[in-house]
Amino acid sequence: MSVQIDAQGDLRHFLTTEGLDPRLLGRILDTAESFAGVLGKSVKTVPLLRGRTVVNLFFESSTRTRTTFELAAKRLSADVLNIAVDTTTTKGESLLDMLRNLQAMQADMFVVRHHQSGAAEYFARHVDPGVAVLNAGDGWHAHPTQAMLDAFTIRRHKGAFEPLRIAIVGDIRHSRVARSQIHAFNALGAGEVRVIAPDTLLPADVDTLGAQVYSDLNAGLRDADVVIALRLQRERMQGALLPGESEYFRHYGLTESRLRGAHPDAIVMHPGPINRGVEIDSALADGPRSVILDQVTNGIAVRMAVMTMVLGVRPDTPREAS
Ligand code: NCD
Repeated sequence: MSVQIDAQGDLRHFLTTEGLDPRLLGRILDTAESFAGVLGKSVKTVPLLRGRTVVNLFFESSTRTRTTFELAAKRLSADVLNIAVDTTTTKGESLLDMLRNLQAMQADMFVVRHHQSGAAEYFARHVDPGVAVLNAGDGWHAHPTQAMLDAFTIRRHKGAFEPLRIAIVGDIRHSRVARSQIHAFNALGAGEVRVIAPDTLLPADVDTLGAQVYSDLNAGLRDADVVIALRLQRERMQGALLPGESEYFRHYGLTESRLRGAHPDAIVMHPGPINRGVEIDSALADGPRSVILDQVTNGIAVRMAVMTMVLGVRPDTPREAS
């Protein structure tokens, strides 16, 4: 059985969207919807994780993901510890020793971002019973909360997944986001998931991912309802995979005019950080089709949902008197 699911079929850790039961994914979205309601009020805090400690353990840089995990934990009234591990100056301590020390401080949850694929699962296999691990991005492998906040944003703008054509454009090869999105969107019943990229930016196992592959941007965008741009992840590229940024923009950059072949109501998304003029033009990123900032806002509700689910806390649980 998968390490992230317990004997009752509930979420115990959140490491990947791959192989997850569509009902569980739907429950994440529904729970997030209830938290989005809370976040719309003037008092945005609920006491569901009061007394619990969440440790944000980031071995790689992050802006949106780390801060929205922190806000999510604070909105749930948890105590939050933010640890940015500078891997160049660690004093030789092993991951396991670091984990044991943090557990000795009675942490209830670790939010882990690491440059190595499989790091979050390693943590999940070694934490004490009752301690949960959330994957905030491991190498090229998975970024499940990003995929779920994207799914949440799509559902809010478009409703049901079944009729949707979703096109993901850009550096698929190095993108943990794209992998998690493809698994989640397919499980949620999307009509068609497409990836659009030059051959050098496609992963070797692209044919097994469950997406239609396009190398021509116009063909891939035709009638798309949702268009997701990805950043060129140069920090993960070895050697010259690209002729240059302006050449890349000419062939794969998203612009208003390029979007003409997509559905007239198509929305444009990006997990951030965006590189204007490389994968997306400013007019499109800031224009009426763009839901890029909604994605950031929605990340808080989705992360609140996952945090309560892995600790077995339900939003409708009666609140203890304060
Ligand atoms: C992504 C990541 O870190 O995988 N960003 C994010 O979490 N919002 C994508 C990227 O870095 O390009």
